Amino acid sequence: MKVYIATLPNGFFGSTGCSWQSLNVSKLSKLLNYDTEITTINDLTRMNFNPDDIVIYTSSDEENIRLYLRDVMYFVNKKCKILPSYNMLLAHENKGFQELLRTELDFGNLQGNYFFDIDDSTLSVPKVLKTISGAESSGVFLAKGKKDISTIKSKYFEVSKKRKIIKLQRRFKLKGSEFSIYNYRHKGFNLFIEQEFIPNLLNVFKILIFGDRYYCLKRDVREKDFRASGSGLCKSVKPPEEVLDFAKSIFDKLDNPYASLDIVQSEDGCHLIEFQGTNFGPFTLFNSSSRYVYFNKKWNEEKNNKDLEENFAYALNTFLSNN
Ligand SMILES: Nc1ncnc2c1ncn2[C@@H]1O[C@H](COP(=O)(O)OP(=O)(O)O)[C@@H](O)[C@H]1O
Ligand SMILES: [Mg+2]
Repeated sequence: MKVYIATLPNGFFGSTGCSWQSLNVSKLSKLLNYDTEITTINDLTRMNFNPDDIVIYTSSDEENIRLYLRDVMYFVNKKCKILPSYNMLLAHENKGFQELLRTELDFGNLQGNYFFDIDDSTLSVPKVLKTISGAESSGVFLAKGKKDISTIKSKYFEVSKKRKIIKLQRRFKLKGSEFSIYNYRHKGFNLFIEQEFIPNLLNVFKILIFGDRYYCLKRDVREKDFRASGSGLCKSVKPPEEVLDFAKSIFDKLDNPYASLDIVQSEDGCHLIEFQGTNFGPFTLFNSSSRYVYFNKKWNEEKNNKDLEENFAYALNTFLSNN
């Protein structure tokens, strides 16, 4: 068995939280309890693997690199084990796939749907509509009624003026049934999700998980806004046990060495707002004073060493020794 660490072609491995800083891959490699070789995502396409080999790879917030990785890792995943899992790659910066995966694996305790045609959305208002990519609350909207939905429709689900003119011409030239097909093709689509709205929230728990280590920051909702992400109003807190238990129940289903979860608590329990299993920001690791580890049937508080590579290596070593 051999462990490969695949960086981007320039040696970058995310995420330190800064697009101009890479994780220290040689430090990570030394901390792994396995025979390790550093390579690049381009070289993976030309390599031969044994079925028990492991490829640890980075994704990117750059969309073209992500799309390239989806194609390349699809085949690598058939030859050996890849970490993060292929599911986590598809879920990266893709709230649509996240919605499908939570339905498939039954976790999150929040109703939601993925669609490309806003007329296919089915949840009743009030509800939250989100573009499938976007961070720090950009692309996250509260729809309280029809007016909000038509505002979102006109901003995100409209075709160009030029296309509207062409459609007008086609209406006269085509048979009714043909025009109906053409009109649908150029209706104005976008990738969105809808989620049930959890009202009156004061904060969101950001939980980072490395193996059995759980780190937490509480992020307050902005004033006169329902959103917390990007507010910068963060505190290091001991999370309620209910939140830790909920996080663990999700993490156990993700089958991944590490994860980032956004969790809220309401009167009817916890809900998962969003998750990532690759390239999430490490802000919570650097700014929480403690970590929480479940053993002897309880959550135990330990000091946070704030060492990113050590935590990645710990998560990977734990995952590989359990599998
Ligand atoms: N279903 C929801 N109910 C209530 N508030 C939500 C819901 N979804 C998101 N929010 C709020 O909006 C913020 C941003 O949403 P999120 O899905 O985490 O997007 P981002 O990728 O921008 O962080 C969250 O931090 C939370 O405060
Ligand atoms: Mg978020």
